[in-house]
Parts: sequence; structure tokens; C-alpha cells
Amino acid sequence: MSTEVRKPIISGNWKMNHNHFEAIQSIQKLAYLLTKDDFAAVDVTIHPPFTDLRSAQTLIDADELRFILGAQHCHESDSGAFTGEVSAQFLSKLNVNYVIVGHSERRQIFGETDEVVTAKIVAVQKHGMTPILCVGETLADREAGRTHEKVLGQVRAALTKRSVEQVRAMVIAYEPIWAIGTGKTATAQDAQLVISSIREEVAKVSSPLAATAVRLQYGGSVKASNIAEIMSQPDIDGVLVGGASLDSAEFARICQYRLRKD
Ligand code: PGA
Repeated sequence: MSTEVRKPIISGNWKMNHNHFEAIQSIQKLAYLLTKDDFAAVDVTIHPPFTDLRSAQTLIDADELRFILGAQHCHESDSGAFTGEVSAQFLSKLNVNYVIVGHSERRQIFGETDEVVTAKIVAVQKHGMTPILCVGETLADREAGRTHEKVLGQVRAALTKRSVEQVRAMVIAYEPIWAIGTGKTATAQDAQLVISSIREEVAKVSSPLAATAVRLQYGGSVKASNIAEIMSQPDIDGVLVGGASLDSAEFARICQYRLRKD
């Protein structure tokens, strides 16, 4: 199941960092550091804050850069009385291609439930974009031996109502919550174990076809120094990078993991 060729996908989640001036600088610097071969080898998605999206899109279009524009969140309705929210429909008009859905910070700080996450996935795909579904366990879940139960439950909830075609087009990011922004990473082998069980679950709830095609990322304190080992695991097709994506030089080294031996 893990032998299918899936193009690696490296995503930079800037969270609430970088205003639109800083976003332009970061993207320009990254564009200078990455080569045509890098983009041929990996998909690079960048997820700036909402207020940066228009500037980032204009720069990417004008300079014909090969970054794929992403967002960090969206509302599940197309429009309406939801003060402060941004719909998937609006994002698609800005040429956004990928939307992170159900990040643990959204689940924990903003109370997003599995039902809300499912509705957002439906909205993102309705507007022709790709959801990056985030799943992951807390430290308490892990210590209680509930990692698989928690993660696979989130996967099952999110894939209901999705066709095989819709599931195979998705990206799922396994992000153990205790590893996010903490400097602690799951060992590559631990990440592989959970991620391969996600692939098996996709085969069960959707189809083996969807399971071989769906791209699975690891996230949580990924850096240039640990990316190569993480990417060497057979079921890990990419990474979702927070803190280390804010530094263009470091993020470029992450995107170029295949060139290094460390
Ligand atoms: P981190 O964040 O790389 O800073 O741990 C990952 C994420 O939240 O997506």
C-alpha cells in the first residue's frame, strides 16, 4: 500500500505571524533559494494569514512562482452573518488551493468539533480546493494509550460523506499535539506507525484506492535537521511545518531535504 508514487508535499503554516509586507519578503527570499528541480520534486504550499493572501497571490502570479497558495482556516458557509469569518468560497476566488482544516489550535482554542471539521472539508472541496485535515492526540491521550483511538476517530469522522475521489484528493496531517511548537518530535518510527494506521483506516472507511493515493503528512517541530529521517518513512508523504517555516532559509532547507544526508 505504501509503494504508490505520491508527490511529497511540504506545507508552511505561518499561523498568526508575518504581516503582508513580511509575507512578500519571505516568499521572495524562498523563491530565490528554491530551484526548478526542488519544485519538480516536491509540492510547496504556503499558508499565510488571511490579510496576506491577496499580496501573496499577486506576487506568485506576477513572478510565475511555483508555490501553491494555502489558507489556515475557513468558515463552512458560503456567506452570511458570521462576523469576522472568511468563507471557502472567498478563498477560492484568491486562487487558494489548499486549506488547513481542524488544526489542533482551532480544535482546542476555538472549540472546533469533528462535526464542524467535516462541514469545512465539504465546503473546501465544494469550491475546488484541497483540505489538509489535521488530526492528533494530546499528551494525556498518548500516556493513556489512546493515540490510535483518538487519531483514527478523527479520521473516520472527517471522511464521512466523502466519495472515494474526494478522499484520494485530500491531504491528512498527523500532528501529535504535544509535539507542536514544543521542540519535541515523535520519532520517525512512531510517526510512521500512526501514519500507516491512518492509511489502513482510510482503506477501511473509504477504499484501498483512496488509501494508496491520499497524501499523509507529519507535523510537530519539523526542522531542517530532522526532516530527512521523517521523510525516509514509507507512509510519510510530507510535512506540515509551523515555527521553522517562518525562517525562509530554514524552510528552504526543509524543502530540499532530499539533497542532504543529515
Ligand atoms: P510546529 O507547528 O512546526 O511549530 O511544531 C506545526 C503545526 O502546528 O502545524
